[in-house]
Amino acid sequence: MNKLSLRFFNIYHHIFGEHFNKRIDYKFPSNVMRWDLVKEVIKRKNYKRYLEIGCDTDLLFSKIPDLNIKIGVDPISGGNYRGTSDEFFKQNKNYFDCIFIDGLHTYKQVKNDILNSIKFLNEDGVILVHDCLPANFYQQAVPRCKMLWTGDVWKSIVELRTKDNIDVCVCRIDMGVGIIKKRKNSKKLEFNCSDFSKLKYKEYYANYANFMRIISYEDIFNFLNA
Ligand SMILES: C[S@@+](CC[C@H](N)C(=O)[O-])C[C@H]1O[C@@H](n2cnc3c(N)ncnc32)[C@H](O)[C@@H]1O
Repeated sequence: MNKLSLRFFNIYHHIFGEHFNKRIDYKFPSNVMRWDLVKEVIKRKNYKRYLEIGCDTDLLFSKIPDLNIKIGVDPISGGNYRGTSDEFFKQNKNYFDCIFIDGLHTYKQVKNDILNSIKFLNEDGVILVHDCLPANFYQQAVPRCKMLWTGDVWKSIVELRTKDNIDVCVCRIDMGVGIIKKRKNSKKLEFNCSDFSKLKYKEYYANYANFMRIISYEDIFNFLNA
C-alpha cells in the first residue's frame, strides 16, 4: 500500500474510528523472532511438510530448511506458488505438519485461511498465525493506515478461543504468534458474541489477556505437547 493511501485511511480512521488512544506494551523480547519459533518447532517435532501463506520478501520462507514439502503462497512476491491463499487451497492435495498464516491481515480472510488450514493439517500438526497482538487502535484498523500493521487478525483468534474442538494460545513474540492445535479446547473462552468482526479495540484493550491466552516463548512446547 502506498504512503498516500496510508495517509488517507489514517485521516479516515481519525474521523470515523473509535477515538480510543490507549496503547499496550507487550514487552516483546528483542532476541526471539517468528523464524526462531518456526525453525525450533520444525526441528523439535521433526516436521517434514511446511506451508506458508503470505511470503513477501521471503524473510521467513528463506530460513526454513529444505523439507519433503515446502510451499510458500503469495499473489505478488516470494514463496513458490503465485496466487492467493483461496486459489491455493482450491487446488491443494497435500497435508502439512506446520502452516504459517501471514497473508491478508483481515478478520474474514484470516478466518478463512485458518479453516482451510485445519482441513489440510496432519494429526500432530500445528497452525501458526502472525500479527495477533496489536499495540493500538490504528495498528489493527481496517483499511490499513500504518506501515506496521497487524490488521484485525486478533478477532479470528478470539472467535476460535470460544470453540470446543480447537486449542489456541498466542506466543508473546514478534507482534504475537497464534498457535493452533486441532484437539479439545483446554481453556475455552466463555464469551457470547454474534459477530466477531464487530468487536471493538476498546473491548480488546480491556480483555486482551483473557481473550488471547498469551504465553511466553519458553512455554510453547508445554502447550504443543499437552
Ligand atoms: C506480512 S507479508 C508476509 C511476511 C512473511 N510471512 C514474513 O514472515 O516475512 C504479507 C504478504 O501476504 C501477501 N498476501 C496478500 N493477500 C494475500 C492472499 N489473499 N493470499 C496469500 N497471500 C496474500 C502479500 O502479497 C504480502 O506479501
